[in-house]
Amino acid sequence: MTKTSEKIEKIYPEGYTPCEDVNTEDPNVRNQLLHLIMSSTAEDVIDTDLFSVMEKRRSTRQFLDKRVEPSKVDKLLAAADTAPTAGNFQGFEIFYVKDPKKKEQLVAACNNQPYVNAPVVLVFCKNPARVKLDFPERILKKFAIQDATLAAAYSQLAAQALGLSSIWIGMLDEDKVKEIIGTDLVPSSLLCIGYPKKKKIPKPRRNLKDLVHVA
Ligand SMILES: Cc1cc2nc3c(=O)[nH]c(=O)nc-3n(C[C@H](O)[C@H](O)[C@H](O)COP(=O)(O)O)c2cc1C
Repeated sequence: MTKTSEKIEKIYPEGYTPCEDVNTEDPNVRNQLLHLIMSSTAEDVIDTDLFSVMEKRRSTRQFLDKRVEPSKVDKLLAAADTAPTAGNFQGFEIFYVKDPKKKEQLVAACNNQPYVNAPVVLVFCKNPARVKLDFPERILKKFAIQDATLAAAYSQLAAQALGLSSIWIGMLDEDKVKEIIGTDLVPSSLLCIGYPKKKKIPKPRRNLKDLVHVA
């Protein structure tokens, strides 16, 4: 099936069309697309063992100058979209930053962290207005930050499963990031993704007795 411009306008954002195609007549089109993306091109996926993915994931601040395949970008975005959200209202947005100039500006907006200029840059923003639950605004804001954070975490694990690596960026100037990506929504984190220059061993963690508190 060819992707007509009308169809692209209807369901895909300008500048991003997934490799997989869907039947727009299907009312459940997004789930159909998610299924196609998540189950497609098995050679993309390096590790399908969730626990091994979790154990091996390490932050990367040095990326190879190598393009991330579009089918992998599809999976990174789809993974975020499978995360649970409060009331399933999806109180977050993803900004897929493709413009090299904007990526450079984001370095400055993130405390001059050079690795922010990575092959794939995703900005996760909170969108509490989407959360149509009858709770006070502060609760909706709390839900939105959790929604955005979970979505980014799902992408981060997907990156590892795809043989990629990532760095989570929380040190950001919210106003500067908003201006660069052109939104009023508050960013919660950036996820910068690419092929790692080096594979690293896991970092040490606390002893369980310090981490787990039985109540
Ligand atoms: C909320 C949060 C904020 C973070 N912000 C940054 C950041 O701004 N810059 C950075 O280099 N790493 C940042 N990191 C990555 C952490 O430094 C990293 O996850 C931690 O050192 C553990 O290492 P690991 O991810 O390799 O296990 C952040 C991680 C989290 C979860």
